[in-house]
Amino acid sequence: MKTTADFLKMKQNGEKITMVTAYDYPSAKAAEEAQTDMILVGDSLGMVVLGYDSTVPVTIEDMIHHAKAVRRGAKDTFIVVDMPFMTYHLSREETLRAAARIMQESGADAVKVEGAGNVLPMIEALVESGIPVMAHLGLTPQSAGVLGGFKVQAKTAEQGRQLIDDALSCEQAGAFSVVLECIPQQITEKVTALCKIPTVGIGAGVQSDGQVLVFHDLIGYGDHRVPKFVKKYTEVYPDIVGAIKQYNKEVKEQKFPGQSHSFNLKEEERISLYG
Ligand code: KIV
Ligand code: NA
Repeated sequence: MKTTADFLKMKQNGEKITMVTAYDYPSAKAAEEAQTDMILVGDSLGMVVLGYDSTVPVTIEDMIHHAKAVRRGAKDTFIVVDMPFMTYHLSREETLRAAARIMQESGADAVKVEGAGNVLPMIEALVESGIPVMAHLGLTPQSAGVLGGFKVQAKTAEQGRQLIDDALSCEQAGAFSVVLECIPQQITEKVTALCKIPTVGIGAGVQSDGQVLVFHDLIGYGDHRVPKFVKKYTEVYPDIVGAIKQYNKEVKEQKFPGQSHSFNLKEEERISLYG
């Protein structure tokens, strides 16, 4: 399994870091088999697998439940688990307790938190306690209400400078990496050059040290709208619907199950059954 030290080395060597989200056993297995560098159990699970329209309703129990399945599917991959909404804001103590639960109950390798500002002392406390932390700046979905929706962030030079400062503060606080979501690529380029820790981008251009995509977006699993920055590498949803339609039809027409899917009594048992 790669470690935070390996990710730092990858940045230094100019080797791109790959990350994909996973929410259950088979998706984690697939990510590991594909030799993904890091897996994120993102709170995006609230939207893509639980059907909420934001990440706000996701609970720590939801995160642990899914992270446990991901850990079982990807025993040899570095797993980052999102700390959900409002579990790292109230106090250092509550933050540490929540992170400890995630680490101990799910077997995660690190946690991820959104934002800088008041979150910086929490990052510091977590790292001091031995928990690797990934930061997340730019479009931070847990604050979508405050940001006014899911929109490109840091669109002015001034906001860009603030984001660069925030990234450096996260590094200073001890974060081992930072996710940059939905920002102009020119800002990504600056942050990536100025930070020693690796940047992992989503909708942030090609200049970051790594990329992350949501599993369901990458494989086209679901009928949800995907943002402009997503590339669908396949589109499994129509195949899934098609397969289920065909199954329904064959059941109605008594074409399924066929003889090859059915079990038989031995000859003598058959005779005995029918008398
Ligand atoms: O929850 C998530 O999937 C994320 C990524 C988009 C970075 O936070
Ligand atoms: Na997230």
